[in-house]
Amino acid sequence: MPKLIIDNIPVEVSEGTNVLDAAHSVGIPIPHFCWHPALGKAGACRVCAVKILDGPAKGLQMSCMLPAQDGMVVSTTDDEALAMRKSVIEWLMINHPHDCPVCDEGGECLLQDFTIAGGHGRRRYDGRKRTYLNQFLGPYIEHEMNRCIQCYRCVRFYQEYAGSTDFGAMGRASMIYFGRQQDGQLESPFSGNLVDICPTGVFTDKTARFRARYWDYDMAASICPHCSLGCNTIPAARYRELLKVVARRNDAVNGWFICDRGRFSNAAVNAPDRPRQPLVDGTPVEWDAALGTLAERLREFLTVHGPQALAIVGSPRMSHEGNIMAARLKELTGAGMLSYFPNAEEARHAMEAAERVTPGGPASLADVRAADLIVLPEGDLLAEAPMMALAVRQAWRNGARIYKIVPEAASAGNRTDSREAGDMYRIVTVTSPADVPLTEAKRGVVIHRPGTDMPKTDESAARHAFILNGPNAFGCAVLAREYGAMALSEALASGAVKGILSFEADLAELPPGVRVLASVDWQAGSVMQRAEVTLPATAWVEMEGTFVNNEGRAQRFDQVMRPGLPIKGLDPDRHPPREFGKEAPGGDLRPSWQIISDLLYRLGGEYRHPLSGCWASLNTLDSSGEGIPIR
Ligand code: SF4
Ligand code: SF4
Ligand code: FES
Repeated sequence: MPKLIIDNIPVEVSEGTNVLDAAHSVGIPIPHFCWHPALGKAGACRVCAVKILDGPAKGLQMSCMLPAQDGMVVSTTDDEALAMRKSVIEWLMINHPHDCPVCDEGGECLLQDFTIAGGHGRRRYDGRKRTYLNQFLGPYIEHEMNRCIQCYRCVRFYQEYAGSTDFGAMGRASMIYFGRQQDGQLESPFSGNLVDICPTGVFTDKTARFRARYWDYDMAASICPHCSLGCNTIPAARYRELLKVVARRNDAVNGWFICDRGRFSNAAVNAPDRPRQPLVDGTPVEWDAALGTLAERLREFLTVHGPQALAIVGSPRMSHEGNIMAARLKELTGAGMLSYFPNAEEARHAMEAAERVTPGGPASLADVRAADLIVLPEGDLLAEAPMMALAVRQAWRNGARIYKIVPEAASAGNRTDSREAGDMYRIVTVTSPADVPLTEAKRGVVIHRPGTDMPKTDESAARHAFILNGPNAFGCAVLAREYGAMALSEALASGAVKGILSFEADLAELPPGVRVLASVDWQAGSVMQRAEVTLPATAWVEMEGTFVNNEGRAQRFDQVMRPGLPIKGLDPDRHPPREFGKEAPGGDLRPSWQIISDLLYRLGGEYRHPLSGCWASLNTLDSSGEGIPIR
């Protein structure tokens, strides 16, 4: 643990920390462009100069390139260091256009911050600036090469970190550019991270272009709902429209990055035809009338068919609060069936994840990144859990061996080496678990997905990582164990189900004789088409709640935006709106948990917050923290 002095402050950091990071650890900022914690050092921008006054190194040094060492005395405010930064930034700005007001990065641009922080305030250069033709990089990323300062972060992320090769440093000498050989859509499923990682406005989110400045956005800490990994995000909305999503750092989960699915899947939230009005038998009604009718029909149903005929259906994409309330509804009504998973395979897999007893529980994405041996399941890891594939790549880059068990490969001979996930890592295909040297591994991880049987490895030190279906599948498995839930397919197969209440559930075709008494959801699906009572719910960005990710980590998401029809989606004749009221048009929505709570109350239950009793500890969850295990 090196001990050094930075600007008269004693600092102790772990071995391998650079001087720049050591200074940041005690709140001393040093301007920097090319250095990034996830990518390491490159020494490309020369902006992070400091003066080493004493110790094992001397004089002006690039703080990102210099490991902190015992006895160093560092000045970040020395005149010589300040002069160097000022002159380097002036030089970097020579070709940068002075048209910040039109740049979409304006307001969140590191270049602006560090230009001023570096002491370059008056522009002296009045010559011609270098200009580029920008490229078409697909529907998501805008290219604006004139703003580039050649820090190489983009290519280091794209090629080294993410493993794609269709983008790189092109051109030569003073006409170097960062792009593709030819115009065309970026191929990496992580290409959106270029937006976050480029410190200037070369890559911006095309889907949100020219819509708002940083200070205009409604933003909050959130969790991605598009797979089970629970990557941390910051969605940004304006005028009731979810405009963009950026990655939020959580070293235990997604690190610094997210995948393109998590970043660019905003359409469903903004859809003007989302369910926004309670309906009874297809007729719009007020909330009171809809809930009253539902309570009445439910009582009637229980009297006629008995509670055994009722199935309450929760969902891995509903918040944990909603699923807890679904279980309470089952208890109050005495419903014969509670279901969280559409089929038995999915249910079994999620229960297995929740019951894993290896030390420390299921492996996190951080564990996968740090693994020295990984066993992959069959199937397309990149499609089902993109950031898991990216984590496997980081392990592979650090020397981990990656195995995949494919019994059918026996006919082809035996083990083969090949590339997988679009060349992200190299795998060894073996035909049987016995061919994987798991016991040799110190930090082995076996990744499981539904529908595959993986080696029984409890005797080795290997951890287990699970890919589940839905952002709260793990939470559903825990509730299923507690309340004795069964898969809906099994419940239906018994023939006893005569009616269901569906809460954000994605269900395949239901038998014709089964009544859908109600469907509560924020997306229209086939269940909603059949529902007698339809109750529109808020999407995750319009409420606060909790998801439990694939490793049993409970994470809080905050409300980002008020629900309501995006102003952009309103009738053009009503834009700008000429009616004023407290409620936004189409904004009379409620979180699913609250809808269930309202129904419970009408059925004679007591009002109790979902995070009470054994779930009370989740009330203190910090949405900007790392999350907590729920087991
Ligand atoms: S495009 Fe952005 S990230 Fe890439 S080198 Fe230029 S400034 Fe750096
Ligand atoms: S890996 Fe999954 S949770 Fe993470 S950003 Fe992508 S879709 Fe969202
Ligand atoms: S941050 Fe140190 S040289 Fe770029």
